[in-house]
Amino acid sequence: MAKTQKKHVRARPELSEMPEWLKKKQCPNREKYLSGKRILPRNITGKEKAPDLIDATFLAYNGARLREACQLFTGKMLEADVTVGMSFAGALTPAGMGCSSIVPLIKAGFVDWLAATGANLYHDMHFALNYPVRAGSFKFDDTDLRNNDIVRVYDVLLGYSDCLMATDEILRSMLIQPEFQKEMGTAELHYLLGKYCSEWERKAGLKDVSVLAAAYRAGVPCYTSSPGDSTIGMNVAGVELRGNKLRINPSIDVNETTAFVLAAKRAGGKSAVVLWGGGSPKNFMLQTEPQIQEVLRIKEFGQDYFLQVTDARPDTGGLSGATPSEAVSWGKVDPERLPDAVVCYTDTTIAMPLLTHYALARHKPRKLKRLYDQRQKSLKP
Ligand SMILES: NC(=O)c1ccc[n+]([C@@H]2O[C@H](COP(=O)([O-])OP(=O)(O)OC[C@H]3O[C@@H](n4cnc5c(N)ncnc54)[C@H](O)[C@@H]3O)[C@@H](O)[C@H]2O)c1
Repeated sequence: MAKTQKKHVRARPELSEMPEWLKKKQCPNREKYLSGKRILPRNITGKEKAPDLIDATFLAYNGARLREACQLFTGKMLEADVTVGMSFAGALTPAGMGCSSIVPLIKAGFVDWLAATGANLYHDMHFALNYPVRAGSFKFDDTDLRNNDIVRVYDVLLGYSDCLMATDEILRSMLIQPEFQKEMGTAELHYLLGKYCSEWERKAGLKDVSVLAAAYRAGVPCYTSSPGDSTIGMNVAGVELRGNKLRINPSIDVNETTAFVLAAKRAGGKSAVVLWGGGSPKNFMLQTEPQIQEVLRIKEFGQDYFLQVTDARPDTGGLSGATPSEAVSWGKVDPERLPDAVVCYTDTTIAMPLLTHYALARHKPRKLKRLYDQRQKSLKP
């Protein structure tokens, strides 16, 4: 018992009118069910550190799921033998999640491969190129915003010509360079873009603001599940009309990501998925196991650790809200590992900075696995 905690004494007498049938009732599992931590947190003082606050006061409902997510990530997923894949959907980089959280997670070696919507990677480029993204309001008049050359992502604002179109122009100037003139997967596309973003960051005197640049430097392969579905894809298509030779082959991505999961398991390690939001990056990350089992016919059991933060419900049948136990039926998650699966129903913009802070405070950096450099090797049988 903690030093300052007093022993609590029952102040009222026993119930005198306990019915006979209840007195005789056998309750064989009662102690097991009531063995959990008593809910009696200390008063918050304002002096606590964030990880201690999470451990001590996030005790029920989605608060408890967020605490469990922090503890699962830090206590188990960050073991040296675990390969961690992280997917992210939803407008996260425009909200600053790249700079605040994803870049530090990459730098600390807490994520080994990424799958993102193209939008997150496209909007990440504004940060590398030093085009400001600004806080606004969801109440602004959108017709007036349009008349003033501004676009809105809920309460985030971007300049249309001086941010979006300016980014597009620089992106196209990258895409027509000689190293892009071939067929490739999206990890290579983003690695090459990351190299340029890293250089733009440096020229602008910025440090660690771009996910693409950080992933390039750390050798973290970054995939997108729908290469045509973003302004990066739009610009790839645009330059193709003018004779550019870049061709994206999604099969390369499917095989590389599957090989990472299989290589982790064959080396005697574990595979973990951290899923921010749902969408197609979530499936892209999880389909690695069915690809191993159903398509390649290799005996495997599913992901070892599963952590998802989402707003989507399971009862509509969409994958964004599908639970880890549903994923078991597809071979995506190892049924024996279900106790280690956490789903937290909240907004990523709340959970991601908290989990990042918790992990950085409680776990030392991991050695970078540099999976980007191992893509070819991991594809060999
Ligand atoms: N300019 C661009 O390139 C651009 C801009 C926007 C979207 N897109 C494209 O549209 C597609 C959809 O992208 P999207 O970003 O709208 O993702 P999305 O809406 O498909 O997100 C997938 C799911 O994630 C969950 N989710 C989203 N935001 C969340 C949050 N803050 N917290 C918790 N859960 C959350 C929701 O359940 C959602 O159904 C992508 O392919 C993207 O590349 C492109």
